[in-house]
Amino acid sequence: MLELKSICKSFHDGESELQVLRGVDLSLVAGESLALLGASGNGKSTLLQIAAGLESPDSGEVIILGRTLASHSERELAMLRRRHLGFVFQQFNLLPGLSVRANLLFQRRLNQQTDDDAWTDEITRVLGLAPLMERPVEVLSSGQQQRVAIARALAHRPRVLFADEPTGNLHDTLSRQVMALMVKLVAESECSLLLVTHNTEMATFTDRRMLLEEGHLHEMA
Ligand SMILES: Nc1ncnc2c1ncn2[C@@H]1O[C@H](COP(=O)(O)OP(=O)(O)OP(=O)(O)O)[C@@H](O)[C@H]1O
Ligand SMILES: [Mg+2]
Repeated sequence: MLELKSICKSFHDGESELQVLRGVDLSLVAGESLALLGASGNGKSTLLQIAAGLESPDSGEVIILGRTLASHSERELAMLRRRHLGFVFQQFNLLPGLSVRANLLFQRRLNQQTDDDAWTDEITRVLGLAPLMERPVEVLSSGQQQRVAIARALAHRPRVLFADEPTGNLHDTLSRQVMALMVKLVAESECSLLLVTHNTEMATFTDRRMLLEEGHLHEMA
């Protein structure tokens, strides 16, 4: 479903070079969920962006749904992301000027999926968004925006869901509910989940845990 092979990535800042990823391997089968842990600045977001085809590695290979990303044209990559991948970004990236409903349904509409759907109803209910549906997203609190970001990423039933600290702004009870919903999606639709989190409790919801440290990934218990 998702495979990373020997991924390397460095950033250059004037004279200095920062080697963030030094040969990362990762494999996620359909329906499997994995939490990526690691200290701030260790490269978790960078790894997620590369795995999702939003950033290129310096070397190494990313394979999604059986095909290497390097063999996709820009258009094919955009189509793959639109139809089969979901993202919850660390900075929500909601569409300003649009309502919660329009944000939630945006990707479904692009994919010509219907608006009315038991799945979107369930997401809306579980995330407590029903009273907020007609509000513009920019007037919402950060916790509310985070719930919209999660709903939006799930609405089109992606095959792989990438989530970067999706519960960072939520209180404990809601964090657990959100994690439970994500795991439910994974179980129900054979979607895979790659989750970045600082929170070891959130990481207990996923099938596997890996630690990113000094550019390398290690499987955890
Ligand atoms: N576009 C960029 N240009 C230069 N340096 C970058 C860039 N993106 C990330 N970095 C650096 O790479 C390192 C890893 O960043 P990254 O955002 O992946 O960390 P992270 O593990 O997600 O941290 P956090 O837990 O705080 O979100 C950091 O030192 C960061 O400053
Ligand atoms: Mg990050």
